[in-house]
Amino acid sequence: MTLLQALQSQGVGSRKVCLAIIDDGEAFIDGEVCTKPKQKVDPERVTFLFEGELCTWQERVVIMMHKPLGYECSARPQFHPSVLALLPAIYRARGVQPIGRLDVDTSGLLILTDDGQLIHRVTHPKRHVPKVYEVTTVDPITPEQLAGLMSEIELNDEPRPVHALEVALIDVYNVRLVIDEGRYHQVRRMLAAVGNRVDKLARTRVGNLSLPDDLLAGQWVAIDEGSIGLS
Ligand code: URA
Repeated sequence: MTLLQALQSQGVGSRKVCLAIIDDGEAFIDGEVCTKPKQKVDPERVTFLFEGELCTWQERVVIMMHKPLGYECSARPQFHPSVLALLPAIYRARGVQPIGRLDVDTSGLLILTDDGQLIHRVTHPKRHVPKVYEVTTVDPITPEQLAGLMSEIELNDEPRPVHALEVALIDVYNVRLVIDEGRYHQVRRMLAAVGNRVDKLARTRVGNLSLPDDLLAGQWVAIDEGSIGLS
């Protein structure tokens, strides 16, 4: 691969933009400026400047974020900032996007990537990737409501009923719910369907990947896609 090709694979812009980065002395091999676009390189040794930030060549980006409350998952948010605003500019430029969405008033584990196949594999209903939610309710949770969450629940405009795979009562206002689908507002609608309401909602696990205690709201780390544990 040439230095130009290495840059072109990073979503920084057109061939012309990549040539300008190289010409301006903003592309590096092992930390040394290289101004030859046709220089053969091991891409892993390439770094470059993008919008003033030093970026490392990466084949794919997979990120675990602790989504804070008050952020939208859309790239074109309507009323609140986008979670993408918490990432370096280069990740937005190369099309990193959330795998599934969390509501603006839901916090917790969000995986983001620029790998379309990974998005497909995590979100495809046939994959049944489990997601764990910690739910705080407005009203005390009753045994009937717990049983209701495990039974089939019809939600408006959904083709098939949904149900929780596991429900664990933490205390009278807190329940841990495992579901393997990602319908719109699913947890809130399930709680409403059994006669309660969600006060707080946080996702703590997707597949095998758990949100670490020391990853604070708004922080993110690069992860290996294998840690999600897809078969
Ligand atoms: N279910 C919801 O209701 N909201 C979320 O953000 C995720 C799951």
